[in-house]
Amino acid sequence: MVPVKRPEELRSHRWYGTDGLRSFSHRARTRQLGYLPEEHLGKPVVAILNTWSDINPCHVHLRERAQAVKRGVWQAGGFPLEFPVSTLSETFQKPTPMLYRNLLAMETEELLRSYPVDGAVLMGGCDKSTPALLMGAASVDLPTVFVPAGPMLPGHWRGEVLGSGTDMWKYWDDKRAGLVGDCEMAELESGLARSPGHCMTMGTASTLTAAAEALGVTVPGASSIPAVDSGHDRMAARAGLTVVELVRKDRGLSTILTREAFEDAVTTVLGLGGSTNAVIHLIAMAGRAGVRLTLDDFDRIARTVPVLADVRPGGQRHLMEDFHFAGGLPGFLSRIPDLLHLDRPTVSYDTLREQLRGARVHDDDVIRPRDNPVASEGGVAVLRGNLCPDGAVIKHIAAEPRLLRHTGPAVVFDDYRTMQRTIDDPSLGITADSVLVLRGAGPKGGPGMPEYGMLPLPAHLLKQGVRDMVRISDARMSGTSYGACVLHVAPESHIGGPLALVRDGDLITLDVDARTLRLHVDDAELERRRTRWTPPPVRHERGYGLLYNAQITQADTGCDFEFLARPGTVPDPYAG
Ligand code: FES
Ligand code: MG
Repeated sequence: MVPVKRPEELRSHRWYGTDGLRSFSHRARTRQLGYLPEEHLGKPVVAILNTWSDINPCHVHLRERAQAVKRGVWQAGGFPLEFPVSTLSETFQKPTPMLYRNLLAMETEELLRSYPVDGAVLMGGCDKSTPALLMGAASVDLPTVFVPAGPMLPGHWRGEVLGSGTDMWKYWDDKRAGLVGDCEMAELESGLARSPGHCMTMGTASTLTAAAEALGVTVPGASSIPAVDSGHDRMAARAGLTVVELVRKDRGLSTILTREAFEDAVTTVLGLGGSTNAVIHLIAMAGRAGVRLTLDDFDRIARTVPVLADVRPGGQRHLMEDFHFAGGLPGFLSRIPDLLHLDRPTVSYDTLREQLRGARVHDDDVIRPRDNPVASEGGVAVLRGNLCPDGAVIKHIAAEPRLLRHTGPAVVFDDYRTMQRTIDDPSLGITADSVLVLRGAGPKGGPGMPEYGMLPLPAHLLKQGVRDMVRISDARMSGTSYGACVLHVAPESHIGGPLALVRDGDLITLDVDARTLRLHVDDAELERRRTRWTPPPVRHERGYGLLYNAQITQADTGCDFEFLARPGTVPDPYAG
C-alpha cells in the first residue's frame, strides 16, 4: 500500500492551513476569488499551466480544454487553478520559438515553485512547448501530468490529403518551379490546416508529445488523440483525476523521469521516424531530470530500432489521425516490448508493462509489423567528422537514398538572408552535386537555431526536376521538412566551429552508412584559416537576447541555459 498524503502534509498547507497572518490573508484572498472554505481547504491544489493563446492555432482549443482538466481535478477532490503561461507558436514567433523555449521553462519552474501548488497539469504541444513545460516542471519535481494538445485534422485539397508543413514545402517548390499558380495556392491556404491542433504529420510536435507519452507523463494513449475529438476532452479530464492521485501518493516527476524512461523515449522517437528536433529537446529534458543523455545514446539506440510508423514525412502515406486509429502510441509500443524498460512507472500505472496490457495495432499499413518496417534502423543518424567534432544529425529516412553517400563541392552562405537573396543566382554555379552550406544559424548565431536547415534548392534545378541535395548547417529543421539535410553541426560556426572555415569549392563527403561528415581540407590549412577568422559581432546588446547568448549551450548538450542545466539547491520560497 502506498501511504497517502494527509492534508496537513500538502505543500499548499503552508500557504493555507497555518495560524499566522499570512495564511489568514491567503484564505481571505481565496474568498475574494469566490471559493467557499470547504471547496478548497485541505485539498491538493493543482496548477493547470495553459499555453492557450489567440495567436497559437495549435493551442487555440486549450482554453476550453482546461475546463475538462478542472472537471477531473474537482471530481478527484482537488482544487484546480489555471495559470496562463507564455505561448510558443511555431508559425508566428520570430526568429524562432526555440529562442524562447528556455524562457517558458523558467516561467514554468518559477511559477510552480512560488505559488501554493501541490501538483501540475501542463497543457501544450506545439513543438517547443512540450520540452519547455517538462523541463521547468522537472526542475521543481512536483506530481505532474502532461496534456498534449493533439494533432489537427488532416488537410484536404482537390481530393488530396495534405500534411501541414510537409505539403506546404512541397507545393511552394512546385510554385517556384511554375507547376501550380496563385489560384491553387489560394485554395491551399484554406486546405492545409483545417482545425485547431498541432501539425498532424510526424513533425516535432507529434514526435515530442509521443516522447512525453513514452516517458510516462501523459495518460495512456493521449498523444495521438485529434485535438477536436471528444476523446481529447475525456483525456483531459482523466489527466485531472490522475494528477490528484499522484499528489496523494506523493509521486513527483522524478519518479517517472528516470534514465530508463528517457531511453524508451529515444527508442520511441527513432521508431516513429520522428523529428530531429527531439534529439536536442530530449537531451535538455533529461538534463533537468538529472539524467545524462548524449548523442551517443541516440546513435546506439538508433541501430537497434526499426522505423515502424508510416507517417509523413519520414513515412510515405499516413498522418496522425491514421496513426491514432491504428492503435496510437500504445499500439506502436506493443510492437517493440523487447526494446523497452517495462518495469518502470508511469503517471497511471506502477509499470509500463501494466499500461501496455491489451494494447494492439489495428492497421499494419500504418504501424508496420517488425518483419516489414519502413526502415530497418532508427530514423535519425548521428554523424561525426572534422566538420562536426561534437556531432551533427541527419534524418536519412526522409532523404533521397542516392545522396546518403555523396561527395561534392561546397557552396557557402554566411547567413540566411544572403542565402535567400542569392540562391537562384546562376553565377554561383550550383549544380545538383553541389553541397549547400549555411552557417551563422546555430544556438548563438541564429540566434536560437532557427529552422533554416532545409535550404531551398535553386529554381533552375527545381525546373530540371531536382528535388533533393546535400545541405549542411548549424541550424535545425522543421520536423515536417525532408531532404538530405545535415543539421545541428556542433560546435556552431558563430563560436568558430569548423563550419566557419569552409570555403566555396571545398569538397565535402557525407557518408551516412559510415556516420561521417568530412571536409577535405587538411589540418594545417584549416589552422591557417582559423588564425584569420574573426568572431561575428554580438547580435543582442541588451535584454533577453544578451542573457541567451551568454548562457546557451551547444546543440549536442541540448541548448539549455548553463545556469538552469546545472544541479544545485534553491531556497524554499516559504522559508523567508
Ligand atoms: Fe504548431 Fe506545427 S505549427 S505544431
Ligand atoms: Mg515545426
